[in-house]
Amino acid sequence: MSVLSGKNILLGISGGIAAYKTATLTRLFIKAGAHVRVVMTPASKDFITPLTLSTLSKNPVHSSFYNDDDENAVWNNHVELALWADLFVIAPATANTMAKMISGNSDNLLIATYLSAKCPVYVAPAMDLDMYHHGSTKHSFEKLKSFGNTIIPAESGELASGLHGEGRMAEPEHIVAFLEKDIEGKLPLRGKKILVTAGPTYEPIDPVRFIGNHSSGKMGYDIALAAANEGAEVILISGPTHLTVQHANITLVGVTSGSEMYNACHEHFGKVDTAIAAAAVADYRPKVVASQKIKKNDGSLILELEKTRDILASLGEIKTGQFLIGFALETENEIENAKAKIRKKNLDLIVLNSLNDTGAGFGKATNKVTFINSNFEEEPMELKTKEAVALDIINKIKTHYNV
Ligand code: CTP
Repeated sequence: MSVLSGKNILLGISGGIAAYKTATLTRLFIKAGAHVRVVMTPASKDFITPLTLSTLSKNPVHSSFYNDDDENAVWNNHVELALWADLFVIAPATANTMAKMISGNSDNLLIATYLSAKCPVYVAPAMDLDMYHHGSTKHSFEKLKSFGNTIIPAESGELASGLHGEGRMAEPEHIVAFLEKDIEGKLPLRGKKILVTAGPTYEPIDPVRFIGNHSSGKMGYDIALAAANEGAEVILISGPTHLTVQHANITLVGVTSGSEMYNACHEHFGKVDTAIAAAAVADYRPKVVASQKIKKNDGSLILELEKTRDILASLGEIKTGQFLIGFALETENEIENAKAKIRKKNLDLIVLNSLNDTGAGFGKATNKVTFINSNFEEEPMELKTKEAVALDIINKIKTHYNV
């Protein structure tokens, strides 16, 4: 999945021949899963039509402060456009547009929008060879960078003038690759390794039967995805679930029983910075696993159960600086029990679910949690989707690492 997926991309087009390539660029953004809106300078409409771009972006295209052909015209709000954007890509950026960006000459909607933008701004210049090498263009690049903008370097090749050399706008595929690499490189949890346990465990009774629980695994998978989206390298150790996950940063380690999960966790724990135990590990397992299917007979069947090893507590015993997060699922004396688990399992943070809260618990899409840290500070949260709870947990990790 592209890091651009779900992002709001504002594409600003200024008047150069390379504007024709923005049809492809818009398509590539949409294909990557981004939402796209387009703002054009009046001059750019000589090179590509707003209709092409509104069709491809699935949004109206704006090029003036209001439409003077329409007596009911509404003001195109450049501030709203700018605040909507997660990133603003100005491609092609002509020498004229870059000069206006520097001087703040907001005589068109694109520049007014640029001046209102708080998001990262990327500038893909396009111009002829000699213009590209002119001192004033170099000055523009330096000035734009000093304002915090990022330049997507122009490429070499045949130019519209017939000359060969630098100045061609980067190819749309290269612009997308540049943005993905740049954004990934700046993600706050980049370089961090995070272990997440998820799902139930199945404790075998015989070759065809097991003791299990209703955990869907959703909470752990949502945490893994949220961490990966913030740049962390995630090892997701999961019991049997119906969930799938596809992310370049997530390595899925499938296990079945608690002892398999224990071994997998211990194999990876030494290499990670943070571990989050969201799995509903069985507390007991059959003491003896029958090697053949148990046949029914007239009497009752008695299974002797033994305690499983507490994976989280075992990680708490050996941790050497890892930030360790556990869950607690409680039905009574919630806060006291959760605090006791922080000490017993040597945790840095516990995420308490109370089954007394409507909307919280197994098989639900929502969760209501209270965070308690190792100083016993409590932070009750609202009822939220599990995705939103996952983001809250990731924010706790970011706060811990000061990123
Ligand atoms: N956990 C674990 N290994 C186990 C049992 C639990 O890693 N064998 C982890 C869970 O993933 C969760 C936390 O421990 O993060 C708390 O689990 P919970 O079932 O609430 O508590 P228990 O410690 O099992 O205590 P009890 O069942 O008595 O409430």
